[in-house]
Amino acid sequence: MLENPEMIENYSFSDNKLKINRTFSKDNLITLYLGDCLDFLKQIPDSSIQLIITSPPYNIGKEYERKTDIKKYVSQQNRVINECVRVLKNEGSICWEIGNYVNNGEIIPLDILLYDCFKNNQLQLRNRIVWHFGHGLHCSKRFSGRYETILWFTKSDQYIFNLDNVRMPQKYPGKKHFKGPNVGKYSSNPKGKNPSDVWDIPNVKNNHIEKTCHPCQFPISLVQRLILSLSNEHDIVFDPFLGVGSTVVAGIINRRKVAGAEILKKYYDIACERVVLACNNKLKIRPDKPVYQPGGNLSILKNPFNKENNK
Ligand SMILES: C[S@@+](CC[C@H](N)C(=O)[O-])C[C@H]1O[C@@H](n2cnc3c(N)ncnc32)[C@H](O)[C@@H]1O
Repeated sequence: MLENPEMIENYSFSDNKLKINRTFSKDNLITLYLGDCLDFLKQIPDSSIQLIITSPPYNIGKEYERKTDIKKYVSQQNRVINECVRVLKNEGSICWEIGNYVNNGEIIPLDILLYDCFKNNQLQLRNRIVWHFGHGLHCSKRFSGRYETILWFTKSDQYIFNLDNVRMPQKYPGKKHFKGPNVGKYSSNPKGKNPSDVWDIPNVKNNHIEKTCHPCQFPISLVQRLILSLSNEHDIVFDPFLGVGSTVVAGIINRRKVAGAEILKKYYDIACERVVLACNNKLKIRPDKPVYQPGGNLSILKNPFNKENNK
């Protein structure tokens, strides 16, 4: 455990004070488990976690998963989801980020298949957030896939939702009411606008500053929006399929307690390294800012197949 739990207040961990615990305790600031998430979940008491954010394997044959019969996959996910619901606090939230299972060119949206696993646990869906990104495989027999979804479920109606923490700049901040009792007054919320349920955030591809060797890591800013809106400082944020630790990094930099499980040592080790860097404020993170729009006189913006451009 960190020697001085107050350190998280000002976020000035130093290497010798940082401790990554391997066994869960509600008092730990950081717990990272190397192994199967179902084994780790057994350590976690009922109703102790405020927020669970994860992106599970998609059953598409990545190096960390064995492609299996889709019914078996759903039943494996169901076991993890049941356990996640057990450890979730009454005012807590679960965010399951997921894409498509692809079989012989047919796509099967996994969120649709997994929806019942949450509903059978009496959870309530608050948003199906569409995460839109710009880069990915180019398909020739269907339109190229450029989004995944996040199912955000709550355990009860008394859930934490800090909208003001994630408001975005208004498009027309100077707009005024033109009729009615408020005529002449500014019509937009000065704190910014609701970010909506469609999020445009670059995915982590090769030139992204957060890129590690993991093939499907979360951008930190995606997780950060969920953490800021669905939990409070010092709450516990948990990721059962940790990968290289993006969820816990986002938690640490926002002063949450964090926990996660990762089955592959090579990703677990990178998660630990990123946690140490994050604690020391040395991890490179892309801020949550609008997607870059190329402009100006860049030569690659000119279409070489257009004769007009070649004059
Ligand atoms: C889609 S990736 C998650 C990536 C993560 N969001 C990140 O930003 O790095 C899923 C991860 O779950 C891990 N995994 C698969 N089965 C697991 C299990 N039973 N318990 C724990 N981790 C598992 C895989 O090794 C993989 O790194």
